Amino acid sequence: MKFTQNQIQQYKEEGMLFLPNYLSKVEVSTLCEELSRLPEEIPGRMMEKDNQTVRALHGIHAYSKIFQGLIQHPLLLEPAQQILGDSIYLYQFKINMKAAFTGDLWPWHQDYAFWYEEDGMPEPKTVSVGIFLDEVNQFNGPLYFISGSHKEGLIKFEVHKFIEDVGWEANVSANLKYYLDHETITRLVERGGIIAPVGCAGSVFFFHSNIAHASVPNISPYPRKLLIITYNSIKNMPRSSGNPRPEFLVCQDYTPLQPVKDDVLLQQV
Ligand code: SIN
Ligand code: MN
Repeated sequence: MKFTQNQIQQYKEEGMLFLPNYLSKVEVSTLCEELSRLPEEIPGRMMEKDNQTVRALHGIHAYSKIFQGLIQHPLLLEPAQQILGDSIYLYQFKINMKAAFTGDLWPWHQDYAFWYEEDGMPEPKTVSVGIFLDEVNQFNGPLYFISGSHKEGLIKFEVHKFIEDVGWEANVSANLKYYLDHETITRLVERGGIIAPVGCAGSVFFFHSNIAHASVPNISPYPRKLLIITYNSIKNMPRSSGNPRPEFLVCQDYTPLQPVKDDVLLQQV
């Protein structure tokens, strides 16, 4: 599946392309059932501040043939290849749980700040795909994107000062290590405005690694599970020496991905 020239143009202009109802209800059910079958205690699990609510599950594809199939789904992989114009491999796979009542915020940030600083990724040549596993509405903490902000490149960011060394968790907690200050956000929003895609489960957005984004806490009774796959060009592998982040945050399997059949999530397993 390829995007039209108009869709590519919109992605390039806004840094994000929203596709309501992109995956079917059956495909979403397959993904949600698989999630409920997988082990809860995995090394890439991140808790909220209350230490009781799961905030995110990183690298969970390693436990699941169905999630492996999703990564190679032609509806996701082929447009990502088209945008990047290269062979691509899986950089990151995660599910942000944003639980009802207790799911916490994500401060304003650009993803590339983390991938550049922590992993030594040479260029912002990734495409991330967010898949709604629940309906996303105005109440349950939709992602906010600042349209066109990716065109600024990597913007000067603030660094959160942690009292103790919290390791990789600093990259995914509600106190994000690298974040954008109020002045920057005000300037970017004045120019591009905020887009907050909402829609039914199965809706999808593709987004650029330099688009500024954030989300508010979920105080509603509706959970907001968002699965995010990041694809990277095989010409853009991280160059970090020494101490790479854990495999569940930065995949070290650089095998180029090949699309599988588009009914991959519909087959009985
Ligand atoms: C969110 O799930 O609301 C934030 C996603 C992200 O920045 O990775
Ligand atoms: Mn992000």
